[in-house]
Amino acid sequence: MSHAPNAVPNHVAIILDGNGRWAKKRGLERHEGHRAGALNLRDIALTAADCGVNVLSVFAFSTENWQRPKEEVDRLMALPAELDEVLWDKLEAAQISIRFSGRRDRLKPDTRDLMAELEAKTFTHTRMVLNVCLDYGSKDERLHATKSIAQAALDKKLSLETLDITTLSSALYTQGLPDVDFLIRTSGEQRLSNFLLFQSAYAELYFTRVLWPDFKPKRFKRALKVYQKRTRKFGGVKG
Ligand code: IPE
Ligand code: IPE
Ligand code: MG
Repeated sequence: MSHAPNAVPNHVAIILDGNGRWAKKRGLERHEGHRAGALNLRDIALTAADCGVNVLSVFAFSTENWQRPKEEVDRLMALPAELDEVLWDKLEAAQISIRFSGRRDRLKPDTRDLMAELEAKTFTHTRMVLNVCLDYGSKDERLHATKSIAQAALDKKLSLETLDITTLSSALYTQGLPDVDFLIRTSGEQRLSNFLLFQSAYAELYFTRVLWPDFKPKRFKRALKVYQKRTRKFGGVKG
């Protein structure tokens, strides 16, 4: 199995990192970096859709990010509502379908309502899926999936003999989405930080030192070109 040369990755995932350093470099507060990062997300999502990407997953807030100072967490959590017109309206107008992956029980009711509203409003959009991973962590996702599978088995709705990878995949928050083809991390860190570990099993990895708010559409397109030069083998033999 390999992909055709020059193929656009079906599913791109981005660990959008470096907002804090971007702000610090400019003598700004960290939350201003997060705001610039969110606006950049809009531009990259529109570019990805133009390039023919079908699913774009972005890491917006991890299960570990709650450890940050309360003020920063509060500012981050306020962003989705603050950016209604400049972010969500633009994505909606571009026929992008928005969905959220992650825990919802620790979010404020207003945030949860906004998320549900955006999902419902854009459900039928077919241009691209923007999967925003919020209070998301792969380990938490695996635990959640394991519990739901165990419960289904106890309730005799599922037999362990027939449990397979497809069933396991559909118990994840990313249910229904394809595996990640290309995973980008900005800001120079070279780690996955608990992001889509199962879904990225065979993803091509791309690390750049550019800080997220500076990762402009031109750089995104350049990264896609790098992907197109990769040889994917999926454990097989090629060439
Ligand atoms: C990424 O930027 C955004 C989130 C984690 C919410 P950071 O806030 O991690 O930026 P740095 O890594 O401190 O520069
Ligand atoms: C990963 O970035 C989480 C998001 C981008 C939302 P972090 O900045 O939190 O990751 P670490 O702590 O550097 O690994
Ligand atoms: Mg960071």
